[in-house]
Amino acid sequence: MPNLTRPVEHAGCISCPLGPERNPSRGRMSPCISGRGPAEAELVVVGEAPGKDEIALGGPFMGRSGQFLEDLLAETGISLRRVYLDNAAACFPNTPDNAPPARAIKACQPRLFEQVRRRRPKGVVVLGGKANSAFGGGGPVSDARGRERWVSAADLQAVLEKDRLKRDLPSVHFDPDWARDGVYVLPAYHPAFVLRSPDRTADLKRDLA
Ligand code: URA
Repeated sequence: MPNLTRPVEHAGCISCPLGPERNPSRGRMSPCISGRGPAEAELVVVGEAPGKDEIALGGPFMGRSGQFLEDLLAETGISLRRVYLDNAAACFPNTPDNAPPARAIKACQPRLFEQVRRRRPKGVVVLGGKANSAFGGGGPVSDARGRERWVSAADLQAVLEKDRLKRDLPSVHFDPDWARDGVYVLPAYHPAFVLRSPDRTADLKRDLA
């Protein structure tokens, strides 16, 4: 039985290091950015976390790596109209490298999975190791990239459960529809990495196609 007193999207916020409830002295939450894209999407693309450009412009992937990602999607013939973009952590990490802590990614999983569930995509591309870890993937992204895996609803439920008590997170159960579902998850290089390592461009393009 769900033991939630808040919507599933915010179930983890109570335990998130980027949220106000663990940081009352901060007075307010770090800026948070919702995903952008259609209510039903063929493809979901998941990055790490919003950065300063995303905060300024109010959506994920609004900066240089976002433009690069959009260009690659366009080159592979995928219209952004069919793509939902989101991040493993919705709130601005405000760290020098903009990397969200593992606790924030864990706390944000119910929100992210719920967004995927609603969109019923054919697949999810996870950009970089942190986004891959949000869907239960491990190891270096250079090994994982290009290898699509089927992640069933039960797998996702298990991902939610893993370390849940350690992280002091409430239990989250999706509605029964979810039990029939699952999704293909494909790890790919993060576009920010590819911008620094242009010889990986073809790999990212192939994984997006
Ligand atoms: N912008 C995002 O929204 N996410 C990333 O991972 C990188 C840039």
